[in-house]
Amino acid sequence: MLSTALSAAPQSQPPVRVMPLPASIETGSGQLLIDRSFSIAVAGYHDPALDRAIARFLTLLSRQTGIPFWSASGGASASLLVHAEHRRANPQKVGEDESYSLAITPSRAELSAPNTPGILHGLETFLQLVEPSPSGFIVPALTIHDQPRFPWRGLLIDVSRHFIPPDAIKRNLDAMAAAKMNVLHWHLSDDQGFRVESRRFPRLHGMGSEGQFYTQAEIREVVAYARDRGIRVVPEFDVPGHSRSWFLGYPKLASGPGPYSLDGNAAPAMDPTRESTYRFLDKFVGEMSALFPDSYFHVGGDEVDGKQWDANPKIQAFMRAHHIEGNRALQAHFNRRLHKILVKHHKTMIGWDEILHPDLPTSVVVQSWRGQQSLATAARQGYSGLLSHGYYLDLMWPAARHYVVDPMSDAAADLTPEEKSRILGGESCMWAEWVTPEIIDARIWPRNAAIAERLWSPQSTTDLDSMYSRLDAFSLRLEWAGLTHTSARTLMLRRMAGTEEVAALAVLADALEPVKDYTRWKANPHADFHAPLNRMVDAVYAESPSARRFRDAVQAYLAGGHSDAALEAQIRARLIAWHDNDASLHPLLDDRSLLQELAPISANLSALSAAGLQALDYLSRGEPSPEPWRTQQLPLVARAKAPAADMLLMVAAPIEQLIQATVPPASPPSLR
Ligand code: ACM
Repeated sequence: MLSTALSAAPQSQPPVRVMPLPASIETGSGQLLIDRSFSIAVAGYHDPALDRAIARFLTLLSRQTGIPFWSASGGASASLLVHAEHRRANPQKVGEDESYSLAITPSRAELSAPNTPGILHGLETFLQLVEPSPSGFIVPALTIHDQPRFPWRGLLIDVSRHFIPPDAIKRNLDAMAAAKMNVLHWHLSDDQGFRVESRRFPRLHGMGSEGQFYTQAEIREVVAYARDRGIRVVPEFDVPGHSRSWFLGYPKLASGPGPYSLDGNAAPAMDPTRESTYRFLDKFVGEMSALFPDSYFHVGGDEVDGKQWDANPKIQAFMRAHHIEGNRALQAHFNRRLHKILVKHHKTMIGWDEILHPDLPTSVVVQSWRGQQSLATAARQGYSGLLSHGYYLDLMWPAARHYVVDPMSDAAADLTPEEKSRILGGESCMWAEWVTPEIIDARIWPRNAAIAERLWSPQSTTDLDSMYSRLDAFSLRLEWAGLTHTSARTLMLRRMAGTEEVAALAVLADALEPVKDYTRWKANPHADFHAPLNRMVDAVYAESPSARRFRDAVQAYLAGGHSDAALEAQIRARLIAWHDNDASLHPLLDDRSLLQELAPISANLSALSAAGLQALDYLSRGEPSPEPWRTQQLPLVARAKAPAADMLLMVAAPIEQLIQATVPPASPPSLR
């Protein structure tokens, strides 16, 4: 346990399981016991939002320790003294000081910060330090000085492709606060849905949402909920492309005749040549500016398909008359007009990297999604920028792959310090083609915490084992704090199976992950957005912790020259379980229509595990395998590694490594 590790080696880096990792930690000696006498007091700046934060803190602390804590009650001798110097800006500002210091001794703890957001972060850190011990719950004695590396640490949630109701957004705001993320980028409109009530233009949500939209009261509630947690809400209304849902109610905004529907693959664009388009956008931005207090307003601007522009003679004539050459220049013309509208409504414009054009003033923020090059280019030209390339959660990458993406590396590495200072941070992106309210938590968490750490912790924080150890702890906390990223899977397995006896199905699910990148999309190009997403591919984790641990065990075993008996036993136990699982699972798979697609996968896992056990026998005896045996395994490995039912058998590659490791060593070259 933590306390033992600390007392055994107080001078080494403590295994503090806080995520994101704080900027500086000094280990103390001993621990502060959290018992019934624990109390908290607030000194310095004080407001209702801080009271609410402390109430949330005490609720979680009570839930974890089983001790009822009600409210801030202690005086100067409280166990935890909270001290904020100042109120924070309203609306919250980019670059506001979010630092905090947390000093814990065996007798008391003190949390201080210049501003209340620092207090919120420090309370999260404190909660993550709470550990069970034989003598009760404790936090280790230590001193933390912490501040974020980047001022902008965001998560984009697309609610257009699938509507995500307010309660699911709120859960995810709680998780973002735990990960010290401070921007919700709310992708509120796209081809498949317009999700905000507009009183000015009621046919936007009225005809563009199939009844699934946020009322203005709900928007205000979510914005206030986020603000309470130190999170800014930046709305995105994607224009002039990705805007089909606007055209159902307002077809004159479009560049072609329509008719328009939410389904299908057509990618119409707004007409940038009509004054009525800008009059509409002016009124619309005016209405939304009042609803979203943040000073940034995201206008999208990505992937504008120019087919409608090319096909419209009036637009072509306008371009000739105004010497506008090509669709990129036409989009720049549109953006210049839109930028004026945003300035009028006191908003700073932010858009995807396609908006980058010398005609736009450098006050615009560029969000880089197509590559890191555009971030560096923007910074060189004087624009502020955000990185999202490499942080797309819908690609189903493992956390480690996101973790190594750094906003300051790649093309940005050669920037001058001044240019680097324009890189504000980054945002992970949860595009929702394959996401419903039921599974969104699992598609975001826990992997998103690795991106949150990249954006918060010092650049030198790169150890993958440490990251995963803290990610596992973070994930466990999130689940009992109200997220559904692991519990949803159990629920879905039970539903698909029609029984609560799903242990064998879970064994199979643990070996599987969804296909990576946009493979699922390519295999299903005409995806129906009304599909319920209730197949195994929707239930399995984007990154299976069990599969990761198996792979790590195999690699450690092979790297250690097959001599670690404990690792061998661990690997053998997994392989036996997988081999035997098929026999218990098969009756269920044959019986349930939603599970039938899994029968060949389960059979492959069983057969491959048998081969893995044989390989393990060769390795542990120190005996090379016969060549014919290895040849026999090749088709089995190929079958097991091929995508099936939109999933990958993640344990196939490590089992293949075991098989390959049985090859006899090459005979030494003869000496002449
Ligand atoms: C995007 O992924 N089209 C921003």
